[in-house]
Amino acid sequence: MFSMRWISVFLLTLPGIVISKDSELKLDGVYALAKRRIPSHAKDFSFEAIDGEGDTFVVADSGGKSGGITVSCTSVSACARGLYAYLTGHGKVNIWWTGSRLDELPSRLPPVPTPFNGSAIVQYRYHFNTVTFGYTTAFWSFDKWSLLLDWMALRGINLPLAWVGYETILIQVFKEAGLSDTEISTFLSDPAFLPWNRFGNLQGSFDGGLPMQWVNDQFSLQKQIVKRMVELGMTPVLPSFTGFVPRALASHYPNASIVSGSQWSGFPSTFTNVSFLEPFDPLFTTLQKSFITKQQAAYGNISHIYTLDQYNENNPFSGDTSYLRNVTSNTFASLRAADPEAVWLMQGWLFFSSSAFWTNDRIEAYLGSVEDNDAMIILDLYSEAQPQWNRTQNYFGKTWVWCELHDYGGNMGMEGNLQQVTSGPITALNSPGSSMKGVGLTMEGQEGNEIVYDILLDQAWSSSTLDIPGYVQGWVERRYGIANLPVEAQQAWSLLSKTVYDNQDPNSQATIKSILELSPSLTGLVNRTGHHPTLVPYDTNTTIVPALKLILQAANKSPSLKNIPEFRYDTVDITRQLLANRFIDLYQNLLSIYNTSASSTAISKAGSPLINLLHDLDDLLSTNENFLLSTWISDAKQWSHNNASYAKYLEFSARNQITLWGPDGEINDYASKQWAGLVREYYVERWQTFIDYLASLKQTGVAYNSSEVSSMMIQIGKTWDAKSWGEGKGENWNVKGDTFEVVDKILDKWL
Ligand SMILES: *[C@@H]1O[C@H](CO)[C@@H](O)[C@H](O)[C@H]1NC(C)=O
Ligand SMILES: *[C@@H]1O[C@H](CO)[C@@H](O)[C@H](O)[C@H]1NC(C)=O
Ligand SMILES: *[C@@H]1O[C@H](CO)[C@@H](O)[C@H](O)[C@H]1NC(C)=O
Ligand SMILES: *[C@@H]1O[C@H](CO)[C@@H](O)[C@H](O)[C@H]1NC(C)=O
Ligand SMILES: *[C@@H]1O[C@H](CO)[C@@H](O)[C@H](O)[C@H]1NC(C)=O
Ligand SMILES: *[C@@H]1O[C@H](CO)[C@@H](O)[C@H](O)[C@H]1NC(C)=O
Ligand SMILES: *[C@@H]1O[C@H](CO)[C@@H](O)[C@H](O)[C@H]1NC(C)=O
Ligand SMILES: *[C@@H]1O[C@H](CO)[C@@H](O)[C@H](O)[C@H]1NC(C)=O
Ligand SMILES: *[C@@H]1O[C@H](CO)[C@@H](O)[C@H](O)[C@H]1NC(C)=O
Ligand SMILES: *[C@@H]1O[C@H](CO)[C@@H](O)[C@H](O)[C@H]1NC(C)=O
Ligand SMILES: *[C@@H]1O[C@H](CO)[C@@H](O)[C@H](O)[C@H]1NC(C)=O
Repeated sequence: MFSMRWISVFLLTLPGIVISKDSELKLDGVYALAKRRIPSHAKDFSFEAIDGEGDTFVVADSGGKSGGITVSCTSVSACARGLYAYLTGHGKVNIWWTGSRLDELPSRLPPVPTPFNGSAIVQYRYHFNTVTFGYTTAFWSFDKWSLLLDWMALRGINLPLAWVGYETILIQVFKEAGLSDTEISTFLSDPAFLPWNRFGNLQGSFDGGLPMQWVNDQFSLQKQIVKRMVELGMTPVLPSFTGFVPRALASHYPNASIVSGSQWSGFPSTFTNVSFLEPFDPLFTTLQKSFITKQQAAYGNISHIYTLDQYNENNPFSGDTSYLRNVTSNTFASLRAADPEAVWLMQGWLFFSSSAFWTNDRIEAYLGSVEDNDAMIILDLYSEAQPQWNRTQNYFGKTWVWCELHDYGGNMGMEGNLQQVTSGPITALNSPGSSMKGVGLTMEGQEGNEIVYDILLDQAWSSSTLDIPGYVQGWVERRYGIANLPVEAQQAWSLLSKTVYDNQDPNSQATIKSILELSPSLTGLVNRTGHHPTLVPYDTNTTIVPALKLILQAANKSPSLKNIPEFRYDTVDITRQLLANRFIDLYQNLLSIYNTSASSTAISKAGSPLINLLHDLDDLLSTNENFLLSTWISDAKQWSHNNASYAKYLEFSARNQITLWGPDGEINDYASKQWAGLVREYYVERWQTFIDYLASLKQTGVAYNSSEVSSMMIQIGKTWDAKSWGEGKGENWNVKGDTFEVVDKILDKWL
């Protein structure tokens, strides 16, 4: 509905569209975005509010006048999306995870011969998983945040999670409740592990305690982040008091209902079994009000939507439906006591991961005691492979969001299910009784595979299922953005989209983990399904290999492609995948030699190509700034204020997360990466140790001992985690070598 109030001259051509003079929309944030990313054209865009429901934009051209491209919108988010539609569609420029290329917009702006419009098909476009704040953004500066927030705004995200700096207010709440500094600090986890502390999975530090410096710095960062989110038309989903408390709270409140949570992922109980203050205890509401009041004072009243997960990989104290009803009604009441308009958002992962516990009766009881269906938002966290909305009658009427999980632990394999992420949301939205009101991204880590995230966010603005071949073609054009793009580049992606990005198997749907990143072993590495699949669901020789050849042919035809950051990225990534997949063949060969040969020399000989390949892989990754371990480490150390012992602490946290994940390898290799430096300094050492071990068995005649192998590997991890990057020989901070030269050598050798 558009009300008739004031009609601008150029919009007369668009019947029904009216500029609203007295709109409350603050469009400064979109102007600032244009100025930030396209300074030379800052004056060429105008943004105007129009009345209307939902998120709609209209893009028009005033015919060469200054402020020439006008985006009219019903919301700030729609204006940003309208700008994006113009920049990508007409301007052929985009902003990627690899950086912004919006400033390459031609100096003469491409005209808009016919005004065009767009509307979001859902109220919410959501971004982040609680753990993305560990796996991806843990150590980010505001510059990196700023780039991602612009990426998100342009794509139309309006509901991002905002967990950074949570601990500042939590600490104040605990202090007010009478806890001492020590009682609080022994509860908090280290920088790279805070998401799991917030989830109540983990407590305490692996390395001496979370410094207050970190807490304070993150709080300042959060103030910048949420301010920017609001400017960009997003409603931050803010933290709340969850109920997870330091153990010492029980001694201060002997009568409080505090239960011990379950053990998580094999951690010893000092690090897990987190104390949970039952929501029906009056103290819960007291702490909730304290938390939310302080948060409002810190950030302003910028959001009524709160993230609150009590049972993520953490089963309730009781399965009685009356108990579950009680927990929810009291949790919700506490939120409403603190903020009368509070909406409770939760990740729906538990309903899949603990589906044996979460029967439909229990889910109905747990969700049902919040009466207002719009007062809760459930993230159907893994909609592309393991949707739960369809077994729960649309979460028994609660508002829910169709989410793509796709990635565990920031693992880097190429993988996707383009069919499902385009048709899935449309089917769900149109299904009878649908209470789906959003589309979102809940990847654990953002690493590569940008197309699978892009396409879902674009689907959120199209009521019909996107045509995949057409979409891929447009995407490749935008991504490489050169005139006369060689057809081979399109052919490469067309091939990948029909194979690597068409994985239909729900039981192995996630970024493929390469076995080279796993602790070496004689068994259990190859063809894993589930959470971190190692099963490669396509034939490398007929997919990755020809795609890579086509990419290189494109580069030969149009050498300017070699300067396009996204093209360089993709070349490295596809070559990386080739080597990762070839490693499986070499490993199988090593095993069969071990099985059939009695000689230790034969084993060493069969082992040497594995090491050789890892060195080549490291050389390849070293050529691109997006594949460096040193970035992760230097991001961590940038917070050290030049304090050497603090820098060491930060580096340990960064190293441990991507390797042992826990002091003793509790979730070993969960967040493994193919990064230059990690491959050469860590995976090489593990595989060399393994090969030498196998060879030594042939000499001594001793039997293979898998626990001995595991403990050797954990020891290597502990030693590696304690090191400092840059101290070892050849430990580089910067890019080294030329991608295309290195790729040529790799092809000669491995094809
Ligand atoms: C959007 O464009 C369609 C035709 O392409 C037109 O029917 C519709 O009225 C337009 N909507 C707005 C809000 O301009
Ligand atoms: C705890 O409850 C007991 C028995 O009802 C009462 O005597 C005691 O004062 C309470 N203690 C606190 C700290 O409230
Ligand atoms: C921790 O939780 C597990 C169940 O998940 C339980 O068996 C164990 O007793 C708990 N330990 C403590 C110290 O509470
Ligand atoms: C936020 O809203 C609360 C009421 O919910 C009010 O008491 C408070 O003053 C507001 N704070 C700010 C900073 O506007
Ligand atoms: C929740 O359980 C507590 C403790 O058993 C009880 O006192 C309270 O009345 C219950 N509240 C509701 C709303 O059922
Ligand atoms: C829900 O949808 C998924 C994916 O399409 C399917 O595998 C599953 O069987 C469905 N569940 C129910 C209960 O219909
Ligand atoms: C892994 O699976 C593929 C096909 O899915 C099969 O060809 C191969 O033999 C399997 N390898 C092992 C070691 O099981
Ligand atoms: C793939 O190609 C490699 C190298 O040419 C060859 O060794 C291997 O057997 C091929 N694999 C399959 C499954 O065809
Ligand atoms: C090696 O032998 C084991 C057991 O004897 C067998 O399970 C395994 O498949 C063999 N591996 C290869 C690669 O031949
Ligand atoms: C340096 O950091 C350590 C550990 O975080 C801290 O204990 C110490 O006080 C800091 N030193 C200075 C001078 O700030
Ligand atoms: C295997 O190794 C473990 C750990 O090193 C050791 O405790 C165990 O005795 C070994 N088993 C055999 C059969 O040698």
